[in-house]
Amino acid sequence: MNKSFAIEAKAFYSKSFDQVKFINKGIFLINEDGFIEEIYEKSHAAYDEIRQKLLEDGKLRVLADDEYILPGFIDLHNHAPQWPQAGTALDSPLEVWLGKYTFPLESKYRDLEFANMVYRDLVKETLKFGTTTAMYFSSVDRAPSTLLAQICGTLGQRGLVGKVVMDDPTANPDYCRDKSAKDAIEESRLFIDEVLAIKDTYKQKVYPVITPRFIPSCSDEALEGLGELAKTYKDIHIQSHVSESDWEHGYAIERYGIHDATALDKFGLINERTILAHACHLSEEDMKLLAERGASIAHSPISNAYFANAVLPVKTCQENGLNVGLATDISGGYSPSMYTAIRQAVISSRMLNDGVDPALASDKRGRKDSSITLNRAFYLATAGGGKALKLPIGKLEKGYAFDIQILKIDEAIPHFYEELSDIDVLHKLLLLSESSNIKEVYIQGERVK
Ligand code: GUN
Ligand code: FE
Repeated sequence: MNKSFAIEAKAFYSKSFDQVKFINKGIFLINEDGFIEEIYEKSHAAYDEIRQKLLEDGKLRVLADDEYILPGFIDLHNHAPQWPQAGTALDSPLEVWLGKYTFPLESKYRDLEFANMVYRDLVKETLKFGTTTAMYFSSVDRAPSTLLAQICGTLGQRGLVGKVVMDDPTANPDYCRDKSAKDAIEESRLFIDEVLAIKDTYKQKVYPVITPRFIPSCSDEALEGLGELAKTYKDIHIQSHVSESDWEHGYAIERYGIHDATALDKFGLINERTILAHACHLSEEDMKLLAERGASIAHSPISNAYFANAVLPVKTCQENGLNVGLATDISGGYSPSMYTAIRQAVISSRMLNDGVDPALASDKRGRKDSSITLNRAFYLATAGGGKALKLPIGKLEKGYAFDIQILKIDEAIPHFYEELSDIDVLHKLLLLSESSNIKEVYIQGERVK
C-alpha cells in the first residue's frame, strides 16, 4: 500500500495498567510510514468536515458498527523451534523436558528446509491471532535464526529474534550446543550483524536479540562475552529466563550464591532493553534491581502452570516498579494465541489470590490482593509489551505504529442484548474471540491478514 489512509472505527486500547480507553468512533489517520499521524474523536469540533473531506478524497474506510479495533498483541517470549511440539510433551518438569524433548527438536533446524516450513507456519499462525510483534528465541544455530528474522520480515511481522547461546558442555548435549564459549560469542556477533543488515529492508523492521538461554546453559566466559557484546551494540535487546522454577531458581544460588537476575546483572546483561521470561521466584530486591535497570518481565502464565511451581505475582512486580508484558512461551505454553495467554493470566492470578488448597482455611489459602483484572491483562499484552521493548507500539496514540486487529462481533461472540456496555464488549472480545472473528490484522499500516 505504502500511502496514507484513514479508518473510522470504534477502538479500545490500554493507556496504563489501570486505564482502558474506549474511542467511541474516531478517525485514525495513518501516514506513509505506517504510523498514526492523528486521531480525531467524534467529539472533535471539525469531525464532520474532516470526515467529509476524507470521503471525497477516497481515503476513508468506514468500519461497521459491530467491528472494533484493538492494538495488535505483543508476544514477549516465544520459542519458535518448539512450535511442532506445541500441545505435546508437557508431562515432565522443565529440567527433564529440555533434554527429553526440546533439545532434540531444536537441533533439527540446521535443516533449513525444515526451518523454513516450521517458521513460516508459526509466524502465519500467530498473525492469525493478532500478534503483530513477537520476541523469539530461535535455536543454537545461526543460519536458521537469521532465516527466522527474514521470515518475520517477509510476512510483515515485527520480529525480535535471538540465536540462542548454550555452550556449557556439562549442561547441553553435543548435538545441541555452541562448540565453545568463543564460538558462541562469535556466532552471536555474526548473527547480530546479519540481522542488522536486513533490519531496515522491512517496513516494520526486524531486530536481533542477545540471547543467553539461561544461566544453567551458559559458561561464565560466554556470559561475559555476551555482556561485552551488549556494550558494543548499544541499542540491542537482550532476553533470557530467570527464576522460573524451584530447580532453576535454585541453580544460580548453588553456582553463585545469588539469584540469577543479579548474576545476569553482574555480567552486564540487564539494561532497559532486557526481557526476562517467567521470573516467578524473584525476591522483591530482585524486582527493585530490575526496575532500576529498566528491564521487564515476560509473564508466561500457561507454561508457568506446567513448569514454574508458582504463579508470577504481577501486582508485586508492578508495586516494585517492575514493568511486565505477556507471552505465549511456546511450547512450554501450548497455545500460539495471546488471547489464551490473557485468559490464563487472569485465571492464574485469581488462584494465587484465593489459594488452591481447600484443606487450608480460607484466610491461610491465598496471597491477598494478587488477582489482576482482564483490563490489566489486556495492558500486559499490549502497552506493557511496548514499554518493555522500548518501541512505539501497543497503544493507539499519535506517533505509535498502526499495528492493529479488527474484531467482529459475530457467531463466535454470543450476544443477546441490544445494549452491552463498552467494557462488556471488550471483555467478550478478549474472552470469547476465535481466530475466525479476528477479521484483519495490520502491522505498520500494512494489511497482513
Ligand atoms: N528455560 C530454558 N530454556 C527454556 C525453554 O525452552 N522453555 C522454558 N519454559 N524455560 C526454559
Ligand atoms: Fe521460555
